[in-house]
Amino acid sequence: MPATPIIIDCDPGIDDAIALLTAFVSPELDILGITPVAGNQPLPGTLRNALQICELGGRSDIPVHPGCDRPLLRAPLHGQFHGRNGLGNTELPPPAKSAEETGAAQFLIDTLTHAAGTGRRVTLCCLAPLTNIAVALRIRPAIAAGIARIVMMGGAYREPGNRTMTSEFNVLADPHAAHIVFSSGIPIVALALDATHQVILRPEHVADFVATSGRISEVLGALMAFWDRNQPERYGSRGGPLHDPLVIAWLLAPELFETRRARVFVETASELCMGQTIADWYNKSGLEPNADIVTRVDAPGVIGLLRDRLSRYAARGTAA
Ligand code: RIB
Ligand code: CA
Repeated sequence: MPATPIIIDCDPGIDDAIALLTAFVSPELDILGITPVAGNQPLPGTLRNALQICELGGRSDIPVHPGCDRPLLRAPLHGQFHGRNGLGNTELPPPAKSAEETGAAQFLIDTLTHAAGTGRRVTLCCLAPLTNIAVALRIRPAIAAGIARIVMMGGAYREPGNRTMTSEFNVLADPHAAHIVFSSGIPIVALALDATHQVILRPEHVADFVATSGRISEVLGALMAFWDRNQPERYGSRGGPLHDPLVIAWLLAPELFETRRARVFVETASELCMGQTIADWYNKSGLEPNADIVTRVDAPGVIGLLRDRLSRYAARGTAA
């Protein structure tokens, strides 16, 4: 089966890093580029972290195109659980790899316009605020014809928010961009907190990943250990929710996920509920559904899949 062409839009970010490292060793995915955006960290931080993770994963071949350094309209908002440098304060070597001159929006426009012409449409893996995607769609709406689907981590439907009472970070950090993407008509698979809170990376999982992931085990262990929220009252155990890696897991094993179609709306006016994602489960709006929302996840299956993939860094020896 031919590899799926993808672009990974991200804000590394500990869970972004785990998602990237998983994608790097998955030949089912043809990674055309990585487009960091301001989110967990300001853009210089997410760009540096993306370059460093590419080198850690032995994938300096993948072009990294710097994206937007702020949301479309609202004030910038940054992550809380990723440490001072966005990678759990893990100090990786300064990247030898340079970012591309072409910015993320132009790279998206060029790549997706070409994809529309060839018919080899691209899957966008969105692990961050959707600013880059929204800007590219506003500049050249026709790129939608080059997008097979958007698989995004973001939103909260039946789950409470993780940054405010109602809202999940990626959508809250740029609600206007999220509105543009959900209004685009592009097929969307939405992995919200409803899905990601079903997959908690517990300390015993971390020990297993460390024991089996070869040359990245030290960094991976440090990243995963930092991710432990230590909030059993919220997550049912020690550990942290695996948000972004579920986007890659869905692409690799969609059978581990159940979805339900609904129309999704994004709150962009309310101060109290800014960035809330609302699912019209029973079609009260009369509008066509615009997303496949993931409702159930086979958590052991996903953990096992990630363990299998990350163990390939052991099998790959020193060179990835
Ligand atoms: O709410 C979780 C999301 O916000 C994840 O993408 C995490 O990396 C942060 O960006
Ligand atoms: Ca992220």
